[in-house]
Amino acid sequence: MASPTISFARGAPSLDIIDVEGLRDAAVRAFANDPAGTTAYGTSIGYPRLRAWIAERHGVEPERVLVTNGSMQADAFLFEQLIGSGDEVIVERPTYDRTLLSLRARGARVHAVELAPDGIDTDALATLLSEGAKPKLAHIIPNFQNPAGYTLSRAKRQALLELARKHEFVVFEDDPYVELRFSGERLETMLSQDPERVVYASSFSKTVCPGIRVGYLVGPTELIAQIAKLATGTYISPNMVSQSIVYEFCASGALERSIETVKTALTKRLRTLDVALRRELPEAEFVAPEGGYFMWVTLPQGTDVAALFKAAAERGVAFVKGTDFLMEGGENTLRLAYSGVTPEEVDEGVSRLADAYRSL
Ligand SMILES: Cc1ncc(COP(=O)(O)O)c(C=O)c1O
Repeated sequence: MASPTISFARGAPSLDIIDVEGLRDAAVRAFANDPAGTTAYGTSIGYPRLRAWIAERHGVEPERVLVTNGSMQADAFLFEQLIGSGDEVIVERPTYDRTLLSLRARGARVHAVELAPDGIDTDALATLLSEGAKPKLAHIIPNFQNPAGYTLSRAKRQALLELARKHEFVVFEDDPYVELRFSGERLETMLSQDPERVVYASSFSKTVCPGIRVGYLVGPTELIAQIAKLATGTYISPNMVSQSIVYEFCASGALERSIETVKTALTKRLRTLDVALRRELPEAEFVAPEGGYFMWVTLPQGTDVAALFKAAAERGVAFVKGTDFLMEGGENTLRLAYSGVTPEEVDEGVSRLADAYRSL
């Protein structure tokens, strides 16, 4: 019988790096400490204690924060509020596939601007703007980008904000991986540099667990109030039980321990992946990320990654084709997620991948 599939496809953590006991304890405290708040509908701004905790962490007033069911919901509300059919939007090339899908479903005119290892090409963006592009919003994943693993440099953060002020567009800083830095220097958020121009989203999916479905938006007070109205019409309120549990988890210090657990495990998985790729698949080009879940791999020009995908599946290894994250091109690229695989699985998975590559 074939051995189980090793998946580099899913951007999700493996069970061993989730603090299940800590979550269970936080749930007990949530019902004990605030039974009324935990079990009531609440309002669309989210569980007030968690909202206040997030506001303090970002050094902003709670009125700037809206807590949602995962950051996907935060993204959806923001797009619903700001983006109509025909509106222009900047995205990174490549970018998160769900962002592309959701913007296209809204009928947005999407401009994809090349992403380099130090972030979006701000010179190319400046040229696009000088040629007449009038975006309402630029969607940017600044840290350990999904799918590329790249991080936006400090200089480019400044350049992007200057362009946003000059051309009057909103910077949407989509930042679910910020806490998962393994090496290098932590950079200031763009939100902290320009809180009126930037709308920030993050999530507890990568630091607590994805099933809890808690994410949030931070933005200008007026915009957050408008989105809160939209949220009321959508679901009255987000999941208060989840948010109360996350609050207890954060307030007890379990969050910081969980972040350390995830970082320690992922550092090892990434190191193993880096070494295994160099050993087994020297044709692969990549820049090892400084954190997060993902590595972007470019194979020699002409490599048919769609064919590799099939050959890999036959050998019990999965990944996501680069083309899923692009509007065109990238047929020789792929994304490897190392968040859900042990170092042993990384080694075995890469040898299967290399074998699939040799079979083409
Ligand atoms: C860039 C980016 N934004 C948003 C999300 C959605 O996260 P959540 O689980 O908080 O909905 C993800 C999840 O993979 C992501 O990579």
